[in-house]
Amino acid sequence: MNPASAATQPLSLSTSGPLAGTVTVPGDKSISHRAIMLGALAVGETRITGLLEGEDVLATAAAMRAMGAEIERRNDGDWRVHGVGVGGLLQPRTALDMGNSGTSTRLLLGLIASHPITATFIGDASLSGRPMGRVITPLSLMGASFTATPGAGGRQTLPLTITGLCPAVALSYTLPVASAQVKSAVLLAGLNTPGDTVVIEPVATRDHSERMLAGFGAKLTVAESPQGRIITLAGEAELRPQDIIVPGDPSSAAFPMVAALIVPGSDILIRNVGINPTRAGLIRVLQAMGGDITLVNERIVGGEPVADLHVRHSALTGIEVPPDGAPSMIDEYPILFIAAACAVGTTVMRGLEELRVKESDRISVMAQGLAACGVACEELPDGLIVHGQGGEPLPGGATVAAQLDHRIAMSFAVLGLNAQARVTVDDARPIATSFPDFVAMMQMLGATAHR
Ligand code: S3P
Repeated sequence: MNPASAATQPLSLSTSGPLAGTVTVPGDKSISHRAIMLGALAVGETRITGLLEGEDVLATAAAMRAMGAEIERRNDGDWRVHGVGVGGLLQPRTALDMGNSGTSTRLLLGLIASHPITATFIGDASLSGRPMGRVITPLSLMGASFTATPGAGGRQTLPLTITGLCPAVALSYTLPVASAQVKSAVLLAGLNTPGDTVVIEPVATRDHSERMLAGFGAKLTVAESPQGRIITLAGEAELRPQDIIVPGDPSSAAFPMVAALIVPGSDILIRNVGINPTRAGLIRVLQAMGGDITLVNERIVGGEPVADLHVRHSALTGIEVPPDGAPSMIDEYPILFIAAACAVGTTVMRGLEELRVKESDRISVMAQGLAACGVACEELPDGLIVHGQGGEPLPGGATVAAQLDHRIAMSFAVLGLNAQARVTVDDARPIATSFPDFVAMMQMLGATAHR
């Protein structure tokens, strides 16, 4: 988090009428990280339009600069990256500060694993509690060595030092958890490794790494099999610089989308939202709950499917959310819990054990916050059951601890739009990791911010 903003920043949103208007959301966080990383490994100039300028992506850019890439933001808002070439990463002089960003940490560990350099990773209190064993295990098999800090429950956590091996050993790895970060870490390590690196994912996760690696010219194939998706990357790759247009982040669009669904009379358009099927699960679930969401002007931008989303206030009905869709909406559950609280009937969400190791334990933190706002819910080991309040304004009247988690903060800010008494998020600063203009965008739609 930006040290210039050391004091906590409470936030409440309210509205006296419907939300209305047309907005855009910032660039996709997952794609932005990957654009910087692959640009930094290509020889020549990569141009990036629409990059998310949130703290997480800036942490990735700072780390790639520390390892030799030239990365600059131009006055028109486009970014230029001059890469060092696969195999060309330099040893950073100081520890790499990843802030709040698990994606930066896990993907960069993959990149470094096959370079002959040593790097130390540090992060904030949230990131320093998150498990790194999931990438340490496969990257160790490829030859990298690690010194991690023992954490709660036997976890391997930050601060952590990695020493890469060059040449590393190619690996065929079946993902034990449905994680795009683990998949990507292994594939990125494979870039500078002789031979084929193979990742088998029994459950499909977001495929931005595969799309972008292929776009940069890596030899990558994807085959469907009874074991799942088999991704094969030919090592010692040469990446060609690209012009990348980053679509709007569906995980950020989720907040105005649910806000419009739960505030009576609302009618909004969210432009330029990524609708990659490996990310669009929330739209499908909200539609199944009765949400009036129309995809307009569907198109392909920079190799990713994109649409404008027309969203109108809707009477939502609770459903049983299919657990097999969880990876395609894993970051959207906190705001789905809010939609469920505003529905008629009960919504059952399971298969979510991964939510416990995100920026916070999102099942437990959301359950506590919902209960404080007068919403009946039952916490399960792997999910949450939410008893909807029928669409009438929720009791509210609580201050909720965001626990250094941007999506918790935005979720309860949105709940406040349909509450009888003000809901305060204790600290809105983490929102800057993924959606620096969140409050301004909600104000454009007609919400009032109280800080
Ligand atoms: C991400 C993958 C997901 C997601 C995270 C971004 C990525 O994490 O929650 O916000 O960019 O690869 P997991 O890999 O832990 O599922």
